Amino acid sequence: MANAGILSMGSAYPEGVLTNADLEKMVETSDEWITTRTGIKQRHKAAENEYTSLFAVRASRQAIERARIDASDIDLVICATVTPDQILPATGCLIQAELGAHRAAAFDLAAACSGFLYGLTLANQMIRGGQARYALIVGAEILTRYVDYKDRSTCVIFGDGAGAAVAGPVEHPRGILSTRIYSDGRFAEHLYAPGGGTRYGSTPETFSSGLHYFKMRGNELFKVAVRSMIDVSREVLDEAGYKASDVQLFVPHQANQRITDAVADKLEVDRARVYSNISMHGNTSSASIPIALDECLEAGRVREGDLVLMASFGGGVTWGAVLLRW
Ligand SMILES: CC(C)(COP(=O)(O)OP(=O)(O)OC[C@H]1O[C@@H](n2cnc3c(N)ncnc32)[C@H](O)[C@@H]1OP(=O)(O)O)[C@@H](O)C(=O)NCCC(=O)NCCS
Repeated sequence: MANAGILSMGSAYPEGVLTNADLEKMVETSDEWITTRTGIKQRHKAAENEYTSLFAVRASRQAIERARIDASDIDLVICATVTPDQILPATGCLIQAELGAHRAAAFDLAAACSGFLYGLTLANQMIRGGQARYALIVGAEILTRYVDYKDRSTCVIFGDGAGAAVAGPVEHPRGILSTRIYSDGRFAEHLYAPGGGTRYGSTPETFSSGLHYFKMRGNELFKVAVRSMIDVSREVLDEAGYKASDVQLFVPHQANQRITDAVADKLEVDRARVYSNISMHGNTSSASIPIALDECLEAGRVREGDLVLMASFGGGVTWGAVLLRW
């Protein structure tokens, strides 16, 4: 059985930027508060005429080109998103059509910030099982559409963007070594957007009461995020027979610099081996890990043979980790 690995990455995000100084003019906050509590300095924000698949397709084209394959070689398109272009069809299908990946099965995966690692886990199984040779896994979000710019506890956090990976067969010892994904719906209301679905619908009343906006219990999420990212990272390391000190690069979901630091310190991963871009992007949910990994590759921070750990946590709640040898 062939190992599955990531062959290439790509990323794209809107040109529009919302800085902490911009937010200071919109809500009662300060650059100092946002920086010390989250590590965020700016986040990208889509223009009104921009939509999720636009950035997903740009990121995917980059990844496909770098993998030196043709879009028609792709067997599987997984679009991890909680902010799809529209309710029907899946944004994955729109991406498939735009790319010309006509042979692929395409669908959306709604696991919030863990979506990319959920997608990578599924793709790994399909490639190893022989049902797919090449899989495209895209994490893409326009979160700012669902952010209430009157709510200072959420509007400083979220940003927009997309990251894409082409996964395919690789030679041992390269490839995905272990994966774990989890969820616990009992914490659904830690981060949720109740409006717009079949339960509350989209009516003038749901809009005027802001039911379509993200609502977040930041404090509770913080604690669950740190605990679950540590536990799941230890699990994938144990299963593959490695220690955290063996990891050359740790790419956690970029939710909050304090979460990243707490997880890295508790795992005892040297902070120099932890990648962070939260100051530039904020939290882009499913796009955060693939954008970060793409930046690591561009910066030469990953070399063949490196042990790479990725861990995520998000709304649902969902969490997961993937350990791979690049
Ligand atoms: C959201 C988060 C940054 C808030 O930081 P915190 O240290 O937990 O802050 P708290 O929520 O306890 O709020 C502390 C105070 O700051 C205030 N505050 C909240 N947002 C603020 C802002 N943007 N600017 C200034 N003050 C703010 C609160 O109103 C509160 O004031 P009070 O003490 O007078 O009531 C933090 O909890 C977090 O990052 N949580 C995880 C969120 C997350 O990762 N979400 C996505 C999941 S993937």
